[in-house]
Amino acid sequence: MFRLAVFVSGGGTNLQSIIDSVEEGFLSNVVIDCVIASKPDTYAEVRAHNAGIDTFVVNRKEFSDQTEYDSELIDKLSGRGIDLVVLAGFMCLLGSEFIRKYKNRIINIHPSLIPAFCGHGLYGLRPHQAALEYGVKLTGATVHFVDEEYDSGPILLQKSVPVYDTDTPELLQQRVMALAEKEILPQAVYLLANNKVKISGRRTIILEVQNND
Ligand code: GRF
Repeated sequence: MFRLAVFVSGGGTNLQSIIDSVEEGFLSNVVIDCVIASKPDTYAEVRAHNAGIDTFVVNRKEFSDQTEYDSELIDKLSGRGIDLVVLAGFMCLLGSEFIRKYKNRIINIHPSLIPAFCGHGLYGLRPHQAALEYGVKLTGATVHFVDEEYDSGPILLQKSVPVYDTDTPELLQQRVMALAEKEILPQAVYLLANNKVKISGRRTIILEVQNND
C-alpha cells in the first residue's frame, strides 16, 4: 500500500476528499497512515478521528525555530513508511531539512492557478479576494510539488473555474473547493500512488490519466 501523511491546519475539506476517495475505492492502493495538525482544535482533526486515522498535533507555536519544528515532524513520521506527504491546507512553511528528507514526495494544494495569486501571505480567502480585485474571469486550484519557497515547486495538476460578477471571496472559495480542489487533489494522489508522474526540471510529465467521475 502507498502510505500518506496528510498535514492540515484548518477545516479539512481536502483531507475529507482524500478519505472519501480511499473509502470509495478510487484510491484503492492508498492508506492514510496519519494526519498531522499544525495547531490544536481544528475540524480537520475531528474528520481524521472520525475516520479512525492516527492524528498528532505538532503545534508550530510551541517551536521557536524551523529546524526544531522540522525535526519534530520528521520524528513523528519516522518508521511509518510514508510514501507521500500531502499538505492539505497546512499553513506552515516546511524547512530544508524536512524537504530534503522527503524530496519530490511532498505535494500541496493551493486555491489559485499558480503563478497567479500565490506566495507568502496568500492563503485562506486572500487568493480569492486577490482574484476578484484583479478582475480575472477564471481562477482555480493547483497541486504542486513542494520546495523551499511558498507555492513554487513543479506543477502537477491544475483545474480552472469561472469567476462571476456577483462573486464574493467566500462564494469563489466554495466554488474552487467544490469544482477544482475536490477533484485534483485525489487525482494527484492517484497519479503518484500509481507511479504515473515524472519530474523533468520545472515540468511534470503525466504518463496516464484516469477520470475520477
Ligand atoms: C484550501 O483552500 C487549500 O487549497 C488551501 O487551504 C485551504 C484549506 O482548506 N491550501 P481545508 O482545510 O482543506 O478545508
